Amino acid sequence: MNKTAIILAAGSGSRAGGSVPKQLQNLHGIPVFLHSVNRFISGCQDTQIILVVNPSYRDMFIKHLAGNDTCIHIVNGGKSRLESVAAGLRAVSDNETGLVAVHDAARPLLSVDMIRRGWKCAAEHAAAVPAIQVTDSLRKRDGTLSHAVDRALYMAVQTPQIFRTDILKKGYKELESLAETELAALTDDASVVERMGIPVHTYEGEATNLKITGPADLAIAHTILSAL
Ligand code: CTP
Ligand code: MG
Repeated sequence: MNKTAIILAAGSGSRAGGSVPKQLQNLHGIPVFLHSVNRFISGCQDTQIILVVNPSYRDMFIKHLAGNDTCIHIVNGGKSRLESVAAGLRAVSDNETGLVAVHDAARPLLSVDMIRRGWKCAAEHAAAVPAIQVTDSLRKRDGTLSHAVDRALYMAVQTPQIFRTDILKKGYKELESLAETELAALTDDASVVERMGIPVHTYEGEATNLKITGPADLAIAHTILSAL
């Protein structure tokens, strides 16, 4: 078994200002971010967990983790998700054959089975991302018009995205010389690795692995958890 680490991106963008960020909001009795911590721990006991937080809310994360006997390393994130993941990666120990999973804490409902599928795919292929079929019809923007595209050619991508640690570290190192506009196009970790010419494999994601974006998503996640 490869040595594993998990970077849980629980930092928050600029809108975190006033109320508590979504990662700390209550979902079915515990804060959103703790759901994925618990699922990763059940999916793989012997792993390094790095929780990347917005420094303004660091104390609240620590308070919620009190009594948790698993060693979780808390790291301050940055202004963007890329900066937060880069900060998390600096805390991952160097290991040529190790694997690192990057997961959005805003996706609390991933299953333990899915995590296992991801580790397996990454152990085989070095870069593995979960994807699901798109069920809506898709159209490509064209000024004020739009054109239908073949949705069978597209997939919606989720997290955890899992990579060989040395590859992801190299990918993030290369970002240091990029301009803001180039960085803005990199919306996930797979894009960081892909620009190095590394092929990215997909494994089966889950429709229930939704990303909490607005209040409606929190209500949907609550309903899903109540039905389990
Ligand atoms: N994230 C992070 N550091 C940032 C921004 C985002 O670690 N500076 C993490 C979030 O915690 C989340 C994931 O990246 O798990 C995806 O980000 P997103 O859903 O866009 O979250 P936010 O930026 O916090 O929220 P929003 O864009 O809705 O304000
Ligand atoms: Mg954001």
